[in-house]
Amino acid sequence: MSGRLRASPSGPLHGVAQVPGDKSISHRALILGALAEGKTRIAGLLESEDVMATVRALRAFGIEVRHGEAWRVVGGEWRSPASIDCGNSGSTARLLMGAAAGFALRATFTGDTSLRRRPMDRLIAPLKAMGTRIDGEEHLPLTLHGGALHGIAHVNRFASAQLKTAVLLAGLRAEGEVEVIEPNPSRDHGEIMLGEFGCAVEVADGRVRLGRQRRLTGTTIRIGGDPSSAAFVWTAASILPGSAVETPGVLVNPLRIGLLDALKAMGAEVVITDRQMQSGEWTGDVRVAAGPLRGIHLPATRVPAMIDEYPLIAVAAAFAAGTSRFDGLAELRTKESDRLAAIVAGLTACGVAARSEGDSLIVGGGAVPGGASIGSRGDHRIAMAMLTLGLAAERPVTVDGAEMIATSFPVFAEVMRSIGAEIDELE
Ligand code: S3P
Repeated sequence: MSGRLRASPSGPLHGVAQVPGDKSISHRALILGALAEGKTRIAGLLESEDVMATVRALRAFGIEVRHGEAWRVVGGEWRSPASIDCGNSGSTARLLMGAAAGFALRATFTGDTSLRRRPMDRLIAPLKAMGTRIDGEEHLPLTLHGGALHGIAHVNRFASAQLKTAVLLAGLRAEGEVEVIEPNPSRDHGEIMLGEFGCAVEVADGRVRLGRQRRLTGTTIRIGGDPSSAAFVWTAASILPGSAVETPGVLVNPLRIGLLDALKAMGAEVVITDRQMQSGEWTGDVRVAAGPLRGIHLPATRVPAMIDEYPLIAVAAAFAAGTSRFDGLAELRTKESDRLAAIVAGLTACGVAARSEGDSLIVGGGAVPGGASIGSRGDHRIAMAMLTLGLAAERPVTVDGAEMIATSFPVFAEVMRSIGAEIDELE
């Protein structure tokens, strides 16, 4: 993929956009397959750089992962690898540290400059409390010494599915009760998929508890389209007057589609049909059509169900009538970039009145001049969101560092072009 992409003012978008498999579920399917007895077959795996970092890491742990018509994983005993490079992928680092902690092995985890800046203390604390030894503090590189683990009742200070899943994965090989308490429910793909592999997870009153039967059995997992990728299609269709697009077979787990609720409340038309259950998760065909958008106020409680979609809701707000306000965005500062700062800088460069106030983001809507050249800051979602804005702005928007898009949505430009978006690769 080119490192420099340009999005130009486009006509209404129409047609069917097929987005690749969900990233969160892809990581989990590979890792649970590697922890299970027997073979796991995965259909619809996202073949992006982040997910391939997990594939390479599992192979380094001695697990057989093969790619044919579908992906196949043969679970087994994990052994000490050479250093594990997680690239740009927080899920690879956090989920694998949890999964590896229960094996008698030693593993050093590292990643690219963005990942080496991201907080790991939130994971180190519960893993240490369960009995893991970890050399290093706060940031990668970290060396984990796995072995016998004991139970934990871990209170997450903020909703984080990566953290919750990491503790549950460590818990699979621990003695005693393993429980995670969340302030606000985060995406529950880990809990759902553990059930698919034969380990029941109890969820009640904000507590997620591993069942006593923790032996996993290999299975078949079918993965629906990633709503966090479809989100670019949905937002582009919402801001380009006259658009109507459909994304078939996308995951519609309510803990992932907060953006659709928000776009609908702002005035877009959203319809979900043909709901189907696939490997414990709901998928559906999502149709989004443009409507005149009005500003919105989203409180902090809305964050977990659309944590990765704030760059996009901010773009939608730029085209809406009135001012929008989004609260409770502290976690955005810990993503692949400081996303709160990146959103404000990107929108401001395009002539939009945007500012942060503490952990809130305020966006003034109206005419969007565009015409800017913006750096991705090494962040795939910032790159794609700013290109989405460029489709409906008065002048084109260019994004440098667009190669980062391959971490989650390698076919972004092709999919957007297939519904009429004008996105070109520049030298
Ligand atoms: C993810 C959880 C979220 C999300 C990330 C993927 C997951 O991170 O931002 O893209 O797969 O569990 P946090 O757990 O840090 O909120």
